[in-house]
Amino acid sequence: MIEFFIKEFQKIIDTTCSLSRYARPRPYRNAFVRFRKCSIQDFDLRRKVLEDVGLNAFMFPASLIPGCDLLSDSGTTTMTMEQLSQILLGDEAYGSNEGYFELKDQIEKTFGPEWKGLDKTQDNLFIFHQGRAAEHALFTLLREEMESTGVKPIDVVIPSNSHFDTTEANIENNRMVPINLPCQEHLDHDESFPFRGNIDIESLSKLLKAKGDKVPIIYLTITNNTAGGQPVSMANIKKVHELATAYKVPFFIDASRFAENAWFIKQKEDGYKYKTIEQVVYEMFSYCDGFHASFKKDGMVNIGGGIVLKQHGLFLKKYPHFPGKLNDHQILTEGHPTYGGLAGRDLKGLVQGLKTVVKEQYLKYRIEQVERFGRKLVEYNIPIIKPIGGHAVYIDMDKFFNNEAKDEDFKGVAFNALMMIAGHRLCELGIYAFGKYRDSKEIPPSPRVNYVRAAVPRLVYEDHDLFTLAEPIKCLYKNRDKIPGVEVVYGRELPLRHFKSRFKFKV
Ligand code: F0G
Repeated sequence: MIEFFIKEFQKIIDTTCSLSRYARPRPYRNAFVRFRKCSIQDFDLRRKVLEDVGLNAFMFPASLIPGCDLLSDSGTTTMTMEQLSQILLGDEAYGSNEGYFELKDQIEKTFGPEWKGLDKTQDNLFIFHQGRAAEHALFTLLREEMESTGVKPIDVVIPSNSHFDTTEANIENNRMVPINLPCQEHLDHDESFPFRGNIDIESLSKLLKAKGDKVPIIYLTITNNTAGGQPVSMANIKKVHELATAYKVPFFIDASRFAENAWFIKQKEDGYKYKTIEQVVYEMFSYCDGFHASFKKDGMVNIGGGIVLKQHGLFLKKYPHFPGKLNDHQILTEGHPTYGGLAGRDLKGLVQGLKTVVKEQYLKYRIEQVERFGRKLVEYNIPIIKPIGGHAVYIDMDKFFNNEAKDEDFKGVAFNALMMIAGHRLCELGIYAFGKYRDSKEIPPSPRVNYVRAAVPRLVYEDHDLFTLAEPIKCLYKNRDKIPGVEVVYGRELPLRHFKSRFKFKV
């Protein structure tokens, strides 16, 4: 009789756990809650405050968002009780605190034995307070390396599947040239291709052939945030490694969302179904010579970043003095290399985060939740990037407005402003964030991207919360012809303008 019921219970799970009708319990429970400070009906209050901050999503007070705050999945993670307990055990020593040594061990455990530190004097782990501080150090020193060999920065090219905006800005800030080579399937919007985050191998190969000596490093961002949170396949990573070896150019990974990428490889790439996430991660990182990461994503912490160099990799062979220079840079800008801009407690939380993030139970729920949310939008006919990526759902603003919106109306910004009035926040990553204003002309990003991103923070929201956000999006879609454009009142010509600009509705 009991067997009968077990079979019946299994049937319930099988029939209700399809991605659109979900009834499987979450793999975690809430241990702390934060009450909202305003009601979803405070529309007039939000409108006033929003207009006061010039419709800029980054300037809008988070406390006034009673719905879902999907501005970023970065640093917004709810920490687990295991992490919080480690934080209490934080060792706040000025040099060589306990968390530093634990982090060194954990890097080796998470990314593989090849990432072990070599000796006490020349280390391979460089801690920064967040990803972009690590990028700043990396590209400043790479520029100096190239200059020391007589190559002018302007001739230096750094290719990637797609650089994240701060990565690109840090390269440009050093007067070098970032190049994005997203794969053809991505450019063709091929929805059936599971690895739209890949780099275009042919273009990379041509570039290396033409100017390999001007390429100090090849980059892959996994998952590919700029291209819609899309994963990169193991085959693609391996091919980059082969090209990098052939042309003797070190291969670097932006590993900010490495665990999410590994989950996709396990699910979608032939030959990986029966591998553990750990095995997939080890293989991914066996192909590169170094990586940098914002730990605010798959480190599952609220702050932190780092650079890790493979001790026997091409990067250290080619740039043997890099560790010493990185240490100097850290001491000038962050702090002693054994804490690098973080408190001892942050390091302990990160060690625990790196243990949790590769657990299948966690990753399955995480990635499938983003997918269920995306499918809900599809159910409402909202045009989104497909397949749905790992950390976010990207709404295609060109299609949303039937390809009729004028670029100069920045409708993505207007859409997000209306969402904030509705009580939720997303992020415009399109014509405004990636476009430029030069010689009184608006230059859209190339290749063209025009999205509003709904990035889902880790362990913060439940499906129900995300579905409440789908309702105002549906309403905006139905009434899209009534959505006004916005006018830029400040900052159109500034670099990284989306963080600083002010707008007003065109009425
Ligand atoms: N690399 C990638 C792929 C990122 O997505 C980010 C940040 C960074 C580097 C920079 O790291 O924020 O710690 O300095 N992405 C956030 C986002 C801001 O919302 O996508 P950071």
